[in-house]
Amino acid sequence: MEPVTPPPTSGPRALLVRRGLLLIVAATLATGVLAGLARLGVLVGWGPRYLVDHGPLLVFGAFGTVIALERAVALGRGWGLVAPALGAAGAVAMLVGFADGRWLTVAALVVLVALNAAIVRRQPATFTWLMLLGTAVLAYGALRWARGAPPFQIVATWIAYFVLTIVAERLELSRLAPTPRWAARALVVLAAALAVLAIAACDHPTLSRALGPVLALTAVWQLRFDLARRLVRRAGLPAFAATGVLAGAAWLLATGVFLAAVELPPAGPTYDAALHGVFIGYVLSMVFAHAPIILPAVARLEVRFTRALYAPLALLHLGLIARIAADLGASSGLRRSGAIASALALVLFAVTAVVSRSARRPRASPAGRESRAT
Ligand code: HEM
Repeated sequence: MEPVTPPPTSGPRALLVRRGLLLIVAATLATGVLAGLARLGVLVGWGPRYLVDHGPLLVFGAFGTVIALERAVALGRGWGLVAPALGAAGAVAMLVGFADGRWLTVAALVVLVALNAAIVRRQPATFTWLMLLGTAVLAYGALRWARGAPPFQIVATWIAYFVLTIVAERLELSRLAPTPRWAARALVVLAAALAVLAIAACDHPTLSRALGPVLALTAVWQLRFDLARRLVRRAGLPAFAATGVLAGAAWLLATGVFLAAVELPPAGPTYDAALHGVFIGYVLSMVFAHAPIILPAVARLEVRFTRALYAPLALLHLGLIARIAADLGASSGLRRSGAIASALALVLFAVTAVVSRSARRPRASPAGRESRAT
């Protein structure tokens, strides 16, 4: 029998590269979170050096890179790894304080746009188009940032990027539960509105208020049509992932309503509540929900389901509730405690995932696992 040649992103050397990139992502994530805590006045080791880069470290350096890695594995071509490699280089540049390194992030996102375009060409579907759209919006934000725009000016592009990417990812995973045609069309209209508004808000900040209803409607769409609604009644990993997805969508709904009601200032408690309702409530909840699916695909690191995974998920959400209650009631002590709880939830999730690996379960073939990512 002919030996089967693994895709260029799957060989032992590529796997080593992928795991190396994940290590850089983990270091960037830790630094970004510590910088966030430092912004709240919590005494942390090396975070204070990165106060200004808290958002860029997390959005571009950590999540931008890991999502690029997942897309590169989905494409299955060696050149796709250039996107996460450049993203990781951009993260390292931020960590060492090399300001011109911002252009590495821009380059990473240009390659990521090309990568997503190649995936669309191979598989033209609503979810591949939405990922391409989200990446194009993020690349626009990165370009503005590299040319000197402060984070608050481009923050709408970051929100749009995460929402478009996550909705696309959920659409891909929900392919077995077809949605009515009108609903699929409605989602495309919402996605287009989100992209246009996010780009326009970079120059017209008052438009951030119009983002609110679009985010809220997108959340309603997810709560109504996502496969998670059915899976939440099952047991094990599907129920855990579905709980994370539904809780995340609920935060997106609440934040959308909030954003529709207030003007988004460039800093302060209202800014904090609106941003972290999306970035912690929606994004991190989805990250927890999908990590047991994505980690095996990108790094062949199994995360075995255990009920203990619910503890960090609950802590994440309880911490955020406390933080936002404090934001709205202007209590800085509770705000800090809530933020610390969210940071601890990340640590607890990582520890639980690592400990779960020590319990054995039957191995699936690498090809089988990676094919999910397409
Ligand atoms: C426990 C975790 C976190 C803490 C303690 C934290 C803390 C903070 C603080 C204190 C601010 C400033 C808000 C203000 O102006 O009053 C901020 C802004 C921001 N955060 Fe976080 N954050 C955390 C997690 C995240 C995550 C996971 C993301 C993204 C995925 C994120 C993205 C941002 C962004 C984009 C900004 C705006 C940056 C700017 O305008 O300079 N944060 N964060």
